[in-house]
Amino acid sequence: MYKNTDKIGLLFVCLGNICRSPAGEEIMRQIVIRNKREKDFFIDSCGIGGWHIGQLPDKRMRMAGSKQGYNFTHHARQFDKEDFANFDYILCMDNENIFSLQSKDQKGEYSKKIILLSNYLTKYPNQKEIPDPYYGEEKDFFFVIELLENACENLFNKKFKI
Ligand code: 4NP
Repeated sequence: MYKNTDKIGLLFVCLGNICRSPAGEEIMRQIVIRNKREKDFFIDSCGIGGWHIGQLPDKRMRMAGSKQGYNFTHHARQFDKEDFANFDYILCMDNENIFSLQSKDQKGEYSKKIILLSNYLTKYPNQKEIPDPYYGEEKDFFFVIELLENACENLFNKKFKI
């Protein structure tokens, strides 16, 4: 399936697709809805790895999300090469994700779409990546949400705000 819509496609990518990227997906969706622009976008997330395919986000991520007013309900899926063509912005949580996607894009056809989401952070300018909370503790999940809210809001305002 190749892109057959005028909508703007945003794909959030992390390693497992159960912590950071499903949260990013939903946080961006809420920003788009708040701005009454849901008709203009399709938003999804995926993982580099396939270990958690079909699973809901990690319980700790869902718990932190619900305390911040979000409902993270994405079911994990793995990145597919067709995603390169189907999405306009492929928003990666860390440099490892970027390298993994670059290695799947051998001709560099999609290099302009592969973006490090933390480039849009203003709140923690020294934060170079959205850090993997999987082996962390509760506060790390809340920090991920705070970072995602800031980066997604800035990305939206910079690229898509009318
Ligand atoms: P995520 O976190 O990339 O933010 O979804 C992880 C989830 C699972 C694993 C690693 C990171 N894992 O190794 O299973």
